[in-house]
Amino acid sequence: PRKIGILTSGGDSPGINAAIRGIGKAVAGHFNLQLIGFHDGFSGMAHNLVMPLEGEALSGILTTGGTILGTNRDKPYSAEEEGQTVDYTERILQVYRQHNLDGLICLGGGNTQESAYYLLQKGLNVITLPVTIDNDIPQTDMTVGFNTAMEIAAEAIDRLHSTAFSHHRIIIVEVMGRETGWLTLGAGIAGGADVILIPEIPYDIHKVAEAILERSRRGKRFSLVAVAEGAIAKETLQFFEHARQANRRLRSGNEAEAVEAGLQEIEKRSAGDTLHLANRLQEFTRLQTRVTILGYLQRGGAPSAFDRVLATQLGTACAHLVSQGHYGVMVGIQGGSVKPIPLAQVAGKVKRVPLDHSWVQGARLVGTCLGD
Ligand code: F6P
Repeated sequence: PRKIGILTSGGDSPGINAAIRGIGKAVAGHFNLQLIGFHDGFSGMAHNLVMPLEGEALSGILTTGGTILGTNRDKPYSAEEEGQTVDYTERILQVYRQHNLDGLICLGGGNTQESAYYLLQKGLNVITLPVTIDNDIPQTDMTVGFNTAMEIAAEAIDRLHSTAFSHHRIIIVEVMGRETGWLTLGAGIAGGADVILIPEIPYDIHKVAEAILERSRRGKRFSLVAVAEGAIAKETLQFFEHARQANRRLRSGNEAEAVEAGLQEIEKRSAGDTLHLANRLQEFTRLQTRVTILGYLQRGGAPSAFDRVLATQLGTACAHLVSQGHYGVMVGIQGGSVKPIPLAQVAGKVKRVPLDHSWVQGARLVGTCLGD
């Protein structure tokens, strides 16, 4: 039988194992293909860290969290080895040839789509699945893992409600999602957060404080704020704009460029400064304020039923496409139907929350403050 490789790359996400199982069971049972796994992403493949994926290996993993293959954030052309950055492209091509692979399946988020597209351009038969809690991949309605992470974050907001209520406090919950607000918005709506702050809508701290004070005036002496790790205050953006203008006025050439690069770096780090947000809100409202950073809890543990179904749907469809020799695509879902989408339309792109999205409109219409 033809031989197919598979690896997982980037941040892990609940439902990856369900996808591996879907692919593995379908290729072996229906399409007469042989599947071999590579441990630890692209660098693991470069080191030929093989894991057989037959029979028992695929049993009992539908419901488990993490990835049985292991993962890391290495890219084919830039991997970390003993503190050095190395280019593994040639080694990956060599391992692909050595195993006489017909194709390579890559499971992961945005960076993985980019890496897979890179290998496609190097001549490999590559196919991908969108697997990330961030839901930030274009051309697919949903990514595997998003639903589970949203459930976890929503449950956290539920639980924080009772303690915020009892102590008459503001509780700020920081939610993951990189440069996008899908997770925060979804969990914030589901958990009934009073304020939801996402990267797509820079927030005005005064408006947030005013919304909380308005609740106090109505007798609601507590508030829940869901803030995305990438959310940024308008005043912070303004600060950087002024610094940029001054830089352009006072410097030129290399010096100006160096300062601009520094500003960009600090600006990136200023996004999601949740403790600063907490201090400012406490100052403005005089209400005790506490912070909870959900962090990796959002990525751990068993996938939801929804993610198990989505992973199985996409995984088995991927196996079908591979059996037909259909590569160069990401297997996504659009309006409930599985669609192969050319990798060129996905790689290097980020799906941000559109400002007119019905989730944004819905949140506004139930009275949630979005900070603008
Ligand atoms: O992409 C998934 C994600 O959990 C993001 O939400 C978060 O910004 C990032 O990964 C954290 O990365 P790492 O696992 O490398 O700390």
